[in-house]
Amino acid sequence: MLKIHKINKSFGGIKATNNVSIELKPHSINALIGPNGAGKTTIFNLITGKISVDEGNIFIGDNNITNLKETEITHIGIARAFQITNIFPTLSVKESIKIALLAKIHGLNNMWDRFSSHSVNEEASKIAELTGLTKVYNTISSELSHGDQKLLDIALALALKPKVLLLDEPTAGMGPEERWEMIKRIKELWQKTKMTVLFIEHDMDIVFDIAQTIFVLQQGSIIAKGTPKEIKKNQVVIKAYLGGGKK
Ligand SMILES: Nc1ncnc2c1ncn2[C@@H]1O[C@H](COP(=O)(O)OP(=O)(O)OP(=O)(O)O)[C@@H](O)[C@H]1O
Ligand SMILES: [Mg+2]
Repeated sequence: MLKIHKINKSFGGIKATNNVSIELKPHSINALIGPNGAGKTTIFNLITGKISVDEGNIFIGDNNITNLKETEITHIGIARAFQITNIFPTLSVKESIKIALLAKIHGLNNMWDRFSSHSVNEEASKIAELTGLTKVYNTISSELSHGDQKLLDIALALALKPKVLLLDEPTAGMGPEERWEMIKRIKELWQKTKMTVLFIEHDMDIVFDIAQTIFVLQQGSIIAKGTPKEIKKNQVVIKAYLGGGKK
């Protein structure tokens, strides 16, 4: 589904991404892990076209998306959950999802004509259900709990109907209980859709619990990839990453 082939990216003298290759199978859920500064977010920025690739290629299916514009890449099928909920702080969950849906389908042309259409209402409510936001459907975004704001973020990404969903530390800043609630949701929505998911996460319990394949990054290079079982016993990973320091 998503294929990253030998990409390189340097910032000045720092090689943030060093010959990185990652291949994600259709409808798989995958984790990208590594210590702070390993280059995880940079890989997301390269995939989404936020920053340009120096060398190498990125494909979705047969489409070479390397260095296309961000909007084109989104259109081809990559979406990313950002902390963008406060783009619509005064709108309700329902209104925010509807706007994201309409922006995807028609651009912003004639948006208001379609805003109340039955199909848009129906689709928005499906997305809210999928992300567990039905109970706060009419709540103003800025009044949501931290966890629900993150879920709204994911809901807005889902409105773009992505083939591949990228989540950068979806549980950051959450307490243990809220964290597992979030993971349960992500797992559920991945199971219910045909999406391929790639998430960045520091909590290894979470990574081992839900990822089918784990990619381990260190100083810009992939040092290991495999199933949770394989990664847990991989000596290179244990030494470089699991053994000590920040989880
Ligand atoms: N736009 C940029 N300009 C210059 N340097 C950058 C830029 N983005 C990232 N870097 C550098 O690239 C390296 C990798 O950063 P990146 O943010 O990708 O790490 P990360 O693995 O996401 O870390 P964290 O776990 O802390 O989020 C770091 O040394 C960082 O300072
Ligand atoms: Mg990061």
